[in-house]
Amino acid sequence: MSVHKEVKKVTTHQLQEMKRRGEKIAMLTAYDYTMAKIIDHAGIDVILVGDSASNVMAGHETTLPITLDQMIYHASSVIRAIDRALVVVDLPFGSYQGNSKEALTSAIKIMKESGAHAVKLEGGREIKDSIERILSAGIPVMGHLGLTPQSIYKFGTYTVRAKEEEEAKRLLEDAKVLEESGCFALVLEKIPAKLATEVAKAITIPVIGIGAGGGVDGQVLVTHDMLGMTHEFSPRFLRRYLNLYESMTGAFQLYIKDVKSRDFPNEGEQY
Ligand code: KIV
Repeated sequence: MSVHKEVKKVTTHQLQEMKRRGEKIAMLTAYDYTMAKIIDHAGIDVILVGDSASNVMAGHETTLPITLDQMIYHASSVIRAIDRALVVVDLPFGSYQGNSKEALTSAIKIMKESGAHAVKLEGGREIKDSIERILSAGIPVMGHLGLTPQSIYKFGTYTVRAKEEEEAKRLLEDAKVLEESGCFALVLEKIPAKLATEVAKAITIPVIGIGAGGGVDGQVLVTHDMLGMTHEFSPRFLRRYLNLYESMTGAFQLYIKDVKSRDFPNEGEQY
């Protein structure tokens, strides 16, 4: 008989309980097995398989080129690593904006083929029908408002959103629509801290911020940014916990030197 250590998995319900208790939610991105395993073992609550994989993993300028099949590849790699975290996967650009039937088909495909626990969609009232249809199939949905990178060509820049009163009012209304539609949580990206705090107070579902200040219910960062691997990206909201770009460059240079000088491998490093 094998002794199986039960690990308590994070659920969407627990995230809502955390908000009620005032306990902050920690979320990070992951796109591959090895990184996801480390993050999960560190005790993260939520792992987001973000479409930022398009930038971070594939080197595209925007999140638009990544496909549903590529997101499935990333999410299924992450899922194989997870013992505890809730895994949310982004529906990529072009896989849900057409109509609610297309959105449901994409959501079912990504859930079935990746094993993820929930999907995230960008947008407000314009995707209400799609959210409701996905939810009717039993798939939990996380919303995403503020800077929504899939609409970068509409915005024109990656600067702070909803600074003007009209856009702020619309964002607050959209957050309420997403809550009413049944989203279990909401990401707010790059908006004024005051507005984000107001949104978090106005709705009962957890609000997870990135560049949205400390008055929300949790935080998310792109892992490669917080580890300092993407050293050319330095927005004000980013806290770097390591400078891996420098450490890794140093290690690679040392390896190159050791190979060229015949120091590696030594007697003990061969058969
Ligand atoms: O794709 C992503 O990484 C995201 C986060 C920035 C929230 O959507």
